Amino acid sequence: MGDYDYLIKFLALGDSGVGKTSFLHRYTDNSFNGQFISTVGIDFKEKKVVYKSAKGGFGGRGQRVLLQLWDTAGQERFRSLTTAFFRDAMGFILIFDITNEQSFLNIRDWLSQLKVHAYCEQPDIIICGNKGDLENRRQVSTARAKQLADQLGLPYFETSACTGVNVEKSVDCLLDLVM
Ligand code: GTP
Repeated sequence: MGDYDYLIKFLALGDSGVGKTSFLHRYTDNSFNGQFISTVGIDFKEKKVVYKSAKGGFGGRGQRVLLQLWDTAGQERFRSLTTAFFRDAMGFILIFDITNEQSFLNIRDWLSQLKVHAYCEQPDIIICGNKGDLENRRQVSTARAKQLADQLGLPYFETSACTGVNVEKSVDCLLDLVM
């Protein structure tokens, strides 16, 4: 299988403008662009990583993983197109914007979309409260976000595509869940 052992597909979803493209850009290219160019339909980025199981699996050897990261448009008008891609993903990065209350309230809607369109009823999901660098514009407290994530039984990370905080850590967590 070429120069990798596993092909893993993750998909980022959440409202328009929460920072899905920026998050994936930070993860794959370690860079950030302040411009907002809304994703049209769907896009993807790839990154090769060496995965070492936190559970000590694979005899402690690193596995070469080709991570395919699907970036969906948050805008409603692309919804039927983007949800069609849900079934091919093995894990989901559900992103909201800590400076945008509505994007937080919409988490439950995104989860119901996942239930309908993902490959199984309980896929692996992490929740990321992005734009953590914009503390002075925060509308959703960490405690509130954590409480919802706990209720849903999902891991929660406060991330910043701008500074890079927790971006790699959260994707690593999702890798641990699916591997
Ligand atoms: P759609 O493609 O429409 O679904 O949007 P998106 O979720 O992909 O958002 P995008 O990554 O395009 O980011 C929207 C805007 O927020 C851009 O101007 C980004 O530069 C900005 N942004 C994204 N993440 C962060 C962050 O962590 N901190 C700050 N300060 N700005 C961010």
